[in-house]
Amino acid sequence: MKTPTLDARLEAVLDLIRAGVHADIGSDHAHLPIRLVREGRVTRGVVVELNPGPLALARRNVARARLEDRLEVREGDGFAPLAPGEVDSASLTGMGAGTMAGILRRAGERLPPALVVQPNDSPRPLRVWAREHGYHLTHERLIPGYWPYPVLRLERRNGPDPAYAGLPPDAALRYGPHLLREGPALLRGQVRADLTRLAPLAAPGRTAQTELEAARAAWAVLEP
Ligand SMILES: C[S@@+](CC[C@H](N)C(=O)[O-])C[C@H]1O[C@@H](n2cnc3c(N)ncnc32)[C@H](O)[C@@H]1O
Repeated sequence: MKTPTLDARLEAVLDLIRAGVHADIGSDHAHLPIRLVREGRVTRGVVVELNPGPLALARRNVARARLEDRLEVREGDGFAPLAPGEVDSASLTGMGAGTMAGILRRAGERLPPALVVQPNDSPRPLRVWAREHGYHLTHERLIPGYWPYPVLRLERRNGPDPAYAGLPPDAALRYGPHLLREGPALLRGQVRADLTRLAPLAAPGRTAQTELEAARAAWAVLEP
């Protein structure tokens, strides 16, 4: 099997992974772990899939890549097929942030010290989860695609996450503390679109009001 091509969001995820043993949770085609092993970014990997179709596809692709000795495909829900301490890092990509936050909440002592997550919608639930569970946000990127894909790296560390220091908390949780400081064009576009969309919907007591205030606070950081 020739080396699989990854789309831009999975290339960005790949860039943020270097580990001894890595687990890809909800892997489907297993293209990411195959590339990770082929490029020497990880020594070994565990490929986890919940559903029979994607599980069979992952097994077939790992076999075609002749990597069965270094990539083990396991059936199961999230981190359940892993033993505590078995992996050094894990990726979760291409799912909704709420689904991912549920998988992380159920993981308990099986959680590794580093995580790379790429949700298909707002990463706010993952930033909230990270703050509540002792993970710091060490990298954040927005990748252009069908919509802007957020890619976050989280590392288990002590104390409050310094990335949030001096930023309006709700704006930083919604838009990302590193992204707010860096101000990429994609993020500016998102905040501008939110300001336009939310202004006519906002009224005291409505969610749109809270969201509009966060968008205004974010804009004040981007355009002081
Ligand atoms: C949309 S695909 C994304 C595939 C790949 N990670 C990517 O980014 O291209 C999501 C995959 O996650 C799997 N999945 C969903 N919930 C899961 C869970 N709780 N545990 C393991 N796999 C799960 C699905 O079966 C599906 O194959």
